[in-house]
Amino acid sequence: MKIKDDFLWGGAIAANQAEGAYAEDGKGLSTMDVVPMNQKRQFIKQGKMSYLQCQKDDYFPTHQAIDFYHTYKEDIRMLAEMGFKCFRTSIAWTRIYPTGIEEKPHSLGLQYYRDLFQECHKYGIEPLVTISHFDVPMYLVETYGSWRNRKMIDFYIKYAKTLFEEFNGLVKYWITFNEINVILHNSFSGAGLILTDDENLEQIKYQAAHHELVASALAVKIAHQINPYNQVGCMLAAGDYYPYTCHPEDVLLAMNRNRESYFFIDIQSKGIYPSYIDRLFKEKNIQLSMYDNDLEIMKDHTVDFIALSYYTSRCASMQKQKDESEANVMKSIKNPYIPSSEWGWQIDPLGLRITLNTLYDRYQKPLFIVENGLGAKDELINGTVEDDYRIDYLREHIKAMKEAMKDGVEVIGYLTWGCIDLVAASTGQMSKRYGFVYVDRDDYGQGTNRRFKKKSFDWYKKVIATNGEDL
Ligand code: BG6
Repeated sequence: MKIKDDFLWGGAIAANQAEGAYAEDGKGLSTMDVVPMNQKRQFIKQGKMSYLQCQKDDYFPTHQAIDFYHTYKEDIRMLAEMGFKCFRTSIAWTRIYPTGIEEKPHSLGLQYYRDLFQECHKYGIEPLVTISHFDVPMYLVETYGSWRNRKMIDFYIKYAKTLFEEFNGLVKYWITFNEINVILHNSFSGAGLILTDDENLEQIKYQAAHHELVASALAVKIAHQINPYNQVGCMLAAGDYYPYTCHPEDVLLAMNRNRESYFFIDIQSKGIYPSYIDRLFKEKNIQLSMYDNDLEIMKDHTVDFIALSYYTSRCASMQKQKDESEANVMKSIKNPYIPSSEWGWQIDPLGLRITLNTLYDRYQKPLFIVENGLGAKDELINGTVEDDYRIDYLREHIKAMKEAMKDGVEVIGYLTWGCIDLVAASTGQMSKRYGFVYVDRDDYGQGTNRRFKKKSFDWYKKVIATNGEDL
């Protein structure tokens, strides 16, 4: 089996984790800008604590990140040197609409992204744009309660339409929301929700999700109207749950945990609210408020492809739920058969093959791996990093992807996460590094910000040059 010549090899970043310049050129404040790097971080991200409880001297890693806002030309040149065919980034909503309610978009924001995408095309790199990557204007959070409010659909659609019009011809591939299922777990960083104990939290989350899902379907509609050539995808934080044992209760629990995530893709890809959700809504006392034509909009405007991030698989056990720990946002029992990263994320390349097969069996739409990688501590010695551990991780996952393709799964691209080191979303650390390019900055933003090629840089260059043959 040979990978097709137009396969999209490359890497991914997100605006809030890379750009910095958080208040420059008229940019408004957005959700991740108010999430600090300390013990408050998890509570704020989950929506269980208000960002207002931060102090002035808390450190906010997105404020300078790796300064990609200013260094993008040099950075894209390095990615081009590796032979990238595709580069995924997000647009910071607040560079285009600083509060979210402006009538007209901000010209400096549009100019920045136009320049960035032109820079990509200069090297034959296809941009893939995430419209919202853990990113809501703080004004909309404070004034409207973010996605809990239906008005968000209009604000989002105005923003998305602006992007489709302004970058028509420059961007073909779009993702409406990064890891949409994360809203159930990290509700503030995922969707700008601040939750209070006296409300039905599940009701708020699913209502907000409903608004996002309507907005996503409308975005698909508008993107196709503006240019039928546009390809719009949804995105799942993927990684199937395995039953911890063959006890039927574990099997049932794993099935239900998987459904929690697939629920979103069932709607975005099949265009229907899945039948299994009725029981869950009843049990959790959830009553969604919908407009008459919401279901029709969802039915008529399903996505063109399904994007996914994959870092790990997960395990579900009825008996051991108290032993669960977080593995890339979702809770899991530790799987005794596979190793873990320094951050406790379990490493399971075969799980990628399994997950790809599940997704393709279920949806029969092209799949796009838009995040995969190993967050590790790197040591810069003599201007480079001997990151064989990263090469091993990526090699095994690419092999697993190829096996899935032999199984008959259609995969259109593979992007590594954090192709250039950036701020980690879970911890806010710089020291959790994913890149082929080392950025000289520590967890508190100290360092020269210079870029260095790691050993994996030449390795990935060879992988792309041989279209995945020489691993
Ligand atoms: C994904 C997110 O969940 O995982 C990224 O889309 C994130 O934003 C990535 O950076 C890796 O997680 P972390 O916490 O190691 O940065």
